[in-house]
Amino acid sequence: MIRSLIIGTGSHVPPRVLKNQDLEKMVDTSDEWIIARTGIKERRIADGETTNDIAAKAAKNALKAAGVSPKEIDLIVAGTVTPDMLFPSTACFVQSHIGASRGIAAFDVSAACSGFLYALDAADKYIRSGASKKALVIGVDLFSKIVDWKDRNTCVLFGDGAGAVVLSAEKGKRGILSTHIHADGHYWKTLYTPLSLCSSPLHDKTPERSYMKMQGNELFKVAVRTMGEACQEALDHNGLRAEDISLLIPHQANMRIIKATAERLGLPEEKVYINLDRYGNTSAGSIPLALDEAVKKDMIKKGDIILFVAFGGGLTWASAIVRW
Ligand code: ACO
Repeated sequence: MIRSLIIGTGSHVPPRVLKNQDLEKMVDTSDEWIIARTGIKERRIADGETTNDIAAKAAKNALKAAGVSPKEIDLIVAGTVTPDMLFPSTACFVQSHIGASRGIAAFDVSAACSGFLYALDAADKYIRSGASKKALVIGVDLFSKIVDWKDRNTCVLFGDGAGAVVLSAEKGKRGILSTHIHADGHYWKTLYTPLSLCSSPLHDKTPERSYMKMQGNELFKVAVRTMGEACQEALDHNGLRAEDISLLIPHQANMRIIKATAERLGLPEEKVYINLDRYGNTSAGSIPLALDEAVKKDMIKKGDIILFVAFGGGLTWASAIVRW
């Protein structure tokens, strides 16, 4: 059976750090409130780097770790909701920035914080079907571009960053065991960013600046429920129990959501990877960034069962299980 084996991981975050203390000078908030309600201490903010730059750097790092030349990649899928342009896609820019071959497939998927797992799901299906042999999957978001930095309800939560993995078509028992993606558009109003395009030959309107809008309390409840369900779905699908999990890598939105998800599964703290305190919520960047850190810290061994789970705007939610 052909499976997608993760043969390399990489990430990139902008160097500029924005601490909670910096936010205290921008909005009516406090370091204590942010830590108590979210677990976040600081986040990275792009200062000159674009979504394409950050995605390409994460991609290059993943290729280096995999020992794979850009010319070997036959598919690039990027999960993002903060691209630099409506088109071309971020994946097309990455193709050009890393020097991948002409004529390969490259496209973006829009699933907010579930973007990386949606992209992984798509790439895995290409590999399993035989349509791709080596795929580059990227999760990247620069929420600093869409957050209202005067709104304390949202601006304390997000940061910028990207992660990437190289998938290789391999026979055997290792690799991605399953992916599960879901959506419920009925809840779209709980988290969205309007697009302020209004050009028309019929009238003359000036576009308004549009920021991300969020109903934090409502999202919190849905996130806790759906992330728990998505984990259970992935375990049941593979006939696994929570005890079989070596490491849970959840989307890093809020420490309380992560803890509730882990508690529901009965997973001890040391089996849950958390870097939310240093990066905040990097949306689609969050899971591959955390994975890359866990790999670099040697926390993942061959044969380990890794569970990924995400939740985001759409609403969307997703999970995946990998035998490393
Ligand atoms: N500093 C100080 N006070 C604040 C701040 C802040 N930064 N933000 C809100 N408050 C105040 C509120 O105004 C409110 O005051 P009030 O009681 O006088 O009205 C009080 O704190 C409590 O506000 P709540 O919204 O009830 O606080 P809560 O404990 O729910 O925490 C939070 C808010 C952190 C946003 C939480 O609801 C959450 O994490 N929700 C999920 C958000 C999320 O994960 N979004 C991303 C989804 S993934 C994606 O696709 C991007």
